Amino acid sequence: MGRILRAEETLDASYAPPKLVRRDAEIDLLRKRYREALGKGVAYHQLLTGGIGSGKTAIAHHLGSELEKGGKLGGLAVQRIYVNCWRRSNDRTVLHHLLRAVGVSLPDRGYALAEMLDVFEQGIRKSPRHLLVVLDEVSALVRQETKLVYLLTRAPEVSLGSISLFLVASEDVLPYLDPASRSSFGVTHRLQLKPYGRDDLAGLLRYRASLALAPGTYPDEVLDQIAGLATGTGDARFALEILSNAARHAEESGAVALEPEHVRAAKGSGYPTITETKLEELPEASLLILLALARTLRGPKARVPTERVRSAYAAVAEEFGAAPVSRVTFWRAVKQLEREGIAQVEPVGTGQSSRIGMDEVPASYLETLVHERVARRAAARKP
Ligand SMILES: Nc1ncnc2c1ncn2[C@@H]1O[C@H](COP(=O)(O)OP(=O)(O)OP(=O)(O)O)[C@@H](O)[C@H]1O
Ligand SMILES: [Mg+2]
Repeated sequence: MGRILRAEETLDASYAPPKLVRRDAEIDLLRKRYREALGKGVAYHQLLTGGIGSGKTAIAHHLGSELEKGGKLGGLAVQRIYVNCWRRSNDRTVLHHLLRAVGVSLPDRGYALAEMLDVFEQGIRKSPRHLLVVLDEVSALVRQETKLVYLLTRAPEVSLGSISLFLVASEDVLPYLDPASRSSFGVTHRLQLKPYGRDDLAGLLRYRASLALAPGTYPDEVLDQIAGLATGTGDARFALEILSNAARHAEESGAVALEPEHVRAAKGSGYPTITETKLEELPEASLLILLALARTLRGPKARVPTERVRSAYAAVAEEFGAAPVSRVTFWRAVKQLEREGIAQVEPVGTGQSSRIGMDEVPASYLETLVHERVARRAAARKP
């Protein structure tokens, strides 16, 4: 067991956390809708959409197990069947999976969908229950003109028991469905997840870090830095991946806690946005500013005051015999670095009181890269 990573497996993509943060309202709403319908003995169908890493699959698992564990509804237990349609991407393979889940099976070939569905219903009748069929990544299925969604939403109330669907997709899939199935997903049967914002991601990271890492090893400053990296997309999976890689970097370097430099290393190894070509194209002033930024960031902070970087820049310019640029030009160059995805400026849009960060590669590495270039150019300038 590492000093920092105590339960690394809980950061795995396949791990289902016992709790979901910042999605209570959505889960409460979904649970209520299903419980109400099933309590009356009728099916309920829902479509859940949201961006990559917005928690769709996590919500589906959570809802499924809550409904299973929530006791009988209208006298019947609930069974959830989860199918990832990306992996089983046609009606027959999905239906075979459903058959097995209710304890019946058919040979792989030779049966029409309708026949298979009959056998499915016989399986349910053997021990009546409500079924919640979760079709995750359902786009793969509906884009091939699935009949299964239609057949399942129209399934006759299987005397005692109902078949409810929970469709999950990153996009609205209803336009691909036939009008009859679409009508089962009226406006109230659709839920679009809002992307996670920076605060949500920081809260999510704090919770997941509390499961995976030793207490006291994950400062807020670092979690916020990671949240900032994923804010554009709101992708929780990406944020967790960076957290996990940063923790590994921290352990390998023998540190006692996560530091901004470990996050930069994690980001830089997987998704490099600072390339040698990009640096080669930067004007000299920008390179000198980057060098000053890299040096200023060697400390424990993920973000440093702009004024500190500017005075470091003045020293760097002097060191390499370059005339320092004006305050306005300095600021313009910083904003240009931000546009290129090299630096981050916070809070957004302000001048002197702002802070600058660079989360793309380790500051020590950037310093080496830039120093080399600056020294070469300075040498070339000398007569
Ligand atoms: N609210 C949350 N609290 C804790 N962990 C979360 C939360 N939301 C998502 N996660 C975690 O983030 C990762 C991505 O979430 P999930 O797989 O549910 O996203 P998704 O919307 O299904 O993405 P995709 O579109 O790629 O399928 C998972 O590891 C999940 O456990
Ligand atoms: Mg998913």
